[in-house]
Amino acid sequence: MKDFVKVVKTRKSIRSFSDKRIDNKLLFKILELATFAPTSCNQQLWNFIIIEEPSIKDKLINIAASNTMIGKSPVLIVMTYDSWNYKEAIQAASMATNNILLASNYYGVGSIAINSFGSEKKVKKILNIPENQTICCFILLGYPDERSKNAQLVPRKPVDQLIHWNKFVKRNLVNYNYNPEDWSLMQLIDHQKYYSRKTYLGKEMDLYHNYEKDLIRNIIKRHANGKILDILTYDGSYLSEFPENSSIVCLDLCKETSDYSKESISLNKLKSNFSFEIYDKNKISPNHFDNVTMFFKAERLSNKLLNEFSHLSYDLLNENGKLIFVYRRNSFLFSLYYKTIKILFGNDIRKTGIYSFFGPYKPLKSKRLINILRKNNYNNIKEFRYFLIPPFYENLLQMYLQYKKSDGSSYLHRTKRENYLTRLMSKIIKKQGIRRSRFGSVSVVIASK
Ligand SMILES: Cc1cc2nc3c(=O)[nH]c(=O)nc-3n(C[C@H](O)[C@H](O)[C@H](O)COP(=O)(O)O)c2cc1C
Repeated sequence: MKDFVKVVKTRKSIRSFSDKRIDNKLLFKILELATFAPTSCNQQLWNFIIIEEPSIKDKLINIAASNTMIGKSPVLIVMTYDSWNYKEAIQAASMATNNILLASNYYGVGSIAINSFGSEKKVKKILNIPENQTICCFILLGYPDERSKNAQLVPRKPVDQLIHWNKFVKRNLVNYNYNPEDWSLMQLIDHQKYYSRKTYLGKEMDLYHNYEKDLIRNIIKRHANGKILDILTYDGSYLSEFPENSSIVCLDLCKETSDYSKESISLNKLKSNFSFEIYDKNKISPNHFDNVTMFFKAERLSNKLLNEFSHLSYDLLNENGKLIFVYRRNSFLFSLYYKTIKILFGNDIRKTGIYSFFGPYKPLKSKRLINILRKNNYNNIKEFRYFLIPPFYENLLQMYLQYKKSDGSSYLHRTKRENYLTRLMSKIIKKQGIRRSRFGSVSVVIASK
């Protein structure tokens, strides 16, 4: 029994593999263990399609918009089940899937189940799967490479938070609304601890356009120097924009997110002098800073948190220190997109996947932030606006294309798709460049103490 607990507790999703092949005998042993899962009336109507051939995987990626990750594992298993009863198909095939994941772990083989397999219709056509089959998921198998071998296990919620005795008790712990005002600090922390850690540490999870990053670099070059406090570093996706010799304290909401920031710094081999802190309102750092920065996070915070971070920054800034916040504001064009998304997909950040990684999202009214800064005694508050046409639209177009191609099953595709519209959009955004505009969609707010 001890071994069983170990096998269960050490299983983790593997997303990068070594080139080593899995021996067929071992593969069959693993799949045989799948057949020991229960099925309704012992029907065992599952099928395991084994795919090793790279050209078939390429077809799945290019035609069915399957997750590009499938090209990186030596073996892909497509798990199907007779669809006479959809509920049974998903339930039984899921049980077999978990047997495969656990058996693989037992034999030292890495695995991951994914549902971002793209358009079910197109997958079926490519693989000759009959109409009467339901695709439950794709399972990738292979020996883990060094990086995934060393990857930490993702945290688990404490079981007592999940148990209900005799009847369901509404605990209201989870929130997926777009509006930051609906999120407590605890909910944000929980989201970042579990949901945001769903993939490997250090992976860039937030989406920015290159021009937005260029803007950050310019702003840093012009205004930031000395010792810097970066608030809510999260996935660290813009840290490479700081000059190499900077001294930066990364402030995050919890250890799990701080680990994320750390790993991103290590993966990108960044050379600044970094240190890390976890936010605690009651334990203020004794350090003082020349600058406090916050990039693309203000639009994700409630008034209360924005106020807390503005207040904290004021306390921590040196006499001539500057606060620099960059965020997407509620310009006409950006708000138009934001409202459309909510009309089409509803008020649940997971439905579009766009912002769900960090937490809530709402384009920020500059007036709101400036009022908060004024109340916190900042002087000389200046706002500069950029990008009348949000360059982020280019990222959104890519997402839309993935959404269309995968028949609504996923949004993110790591390779760029090209067509007439993407080229046109790219030309327009390029022509616009990093131009200031009164009605711009990205704001830079700089305030001094
Ligand atoms: C039904 C299902 C679908 C999943 N789809 C994906 C996916 O599309 N991409 C991905 O990277 N991980 C996917 N995963 C893996 C989860 O992100 C992962 O299981 C979760 O974060 C817990 O981490 P662990 O498996 O390492 O314990 C999926 C897992 C399940 C059960």
